[in-house]
Amino acid sequence: MGHQGEYIDIHGKLLPHAVVLLFLRGLERKGDVKSYCNGANVAGRWFFQIFNKEFVEELAQVINKALGLRRKKPPVLEIMSGDGRLTEFLQPLIKRRIIATDSKDGRYNIGYPKWVETLDATEAVRKYSPSFIVMCWEPHLSMTGIELVKSGIPIAWIGNPNMCGHTDIFDHPHIPLESRYALSRHDFFLKQEFKTDIFFFNCKPEWI
Ligand SMILES: C[S@@+](CC[C@H](N)C(=O)[O-])C[C@H]1O[C@@H](n2cnc3c(N)ncnc32)[C@H](O)[C@@H]1O
Repeated sequence: MGHQGEYIDIHGKLLPHAVVLLFLRGLERKGDVKSYCNGANVAGRWFFQIFNKEFVEELAQVINKALGLRRKKPPVLEIMSGDGRLTEFLQPLIKRRIIATDSKDGRYNIGYPKWVETLDATEAVRKYSPSFIVMCWEPHLSMTGIELVKSGIPIAWIGNPNMCGHTDIFDHPHIPLESRYALSRHDFFLKQEFKTDIFFFNCKPEWI
């Protein structure tokens, strides 16, 4: 808890999975998960996926394998990044620059920092021709993910297949990570019912 009784910022720094899970179980006992993820925390953060060290490390490992030994250095691109926290957590772990972008479309109460570039996802891909795309909690029924999969660029799609994006995206070849560390605002932490994963598109099995 903060000085005025607000909850700590679980995204203040990258914490181990066990610590984050324990915290979320405490929130769930009090019925506070939703409000917590909707800004009722000292940092006022609004987020969908809840990051932890193991989760970010396993994502970084795949990205690094995908980047391989290529001499050309196009950046990694996070689209729909929200407050950019995933990009900040990933950057020290990956060997390429990562750029966070978001259209900041005003439908969410997310506190977007200025350094997160205001850019529509498709335009961002056109601008940066990235070597790898990260997208986390694409809005429900958005078709952008499907369009980007068709580009052939390796993509890490994070979220729940029924709650984000369009389920047709799964008609395209993909590999689920089956992460033990994926946590989100819609999970039941006490019952251990976890709803999200990382799905890799345009990625080789040996990277995962
Ligand atoms: C559900 S939020 C997810 C935010 C963050 N990735 C997370 O997991 O908490 C969706 C985000 O996508 C952004 N967004 C929606 N459509 C977009 C588009 N076409 N291009 C870029 N960003 C978009 C919204 O502004 C919002 O920040």
